Amino acid sequence: MAIERTLSIIKPDAVAKNVIGKIYDRFESAGLKIVASRMAHLSQVEAEQFYGVHKDRPFFKDLVNFMISGPVMIQVLQGEGAIAKNRDLMGATDPKKAEKGTIRADFADSIDANAVHGSDAPETAAVEVAFFFPGMNVFNR
Ligand code: PPS
Repeated sequence: MAIERTLSIIKPDAVAKNVIGKIYDRFESAGLKIVASRMAHLSQVEAEQFYGVHKDRPFFKDLVNFMISGPVMIQVLQGEGAIAKNRDLMGATDPKKAEKGTIRADFADSIDANAVHGSDAPETAAVEVAFFFPGMNVFNR
């Protein structure tokens, strides 16, 4: 399987719960390497741009407001099949439907506050990594 990079965000609910380290452990234990990371408090414009593909969906405003409600931890994960592997680790979008042992089952409260984001395909991963880490901030490990 190819080595991929994917964009991961630990959302404001999980940052507020102080579980960044526990979530990083899930990534590293699954063989994913953190090759870039930074904490940020997103502006409304940044969140609207990042989630622009969802702008016509009914939850868009709630999603943007939630994502700017506190700091987030943003990272690039690298490894074999990193995009699908990270999605497996995250679990279903709605934590009530997420498999036991996934990040969302263990750390998320609701579909609105669902702990983590992960790119869903190689094309979106490339765009999302470039959105938050333009230039030189991603390392080969
Ligand atoms: S996904 O994960 O992209 O396949 O899921 P999708 O259903 O397409 O949802 C896109 C993003 O919107 C978030 N979402 C919601 N936010 C607030 N309220 C409701 N009801 C809701 N439903 C979905 C979902 O978590 C996705 O955000 P990210 O950051 O990609 O996980």
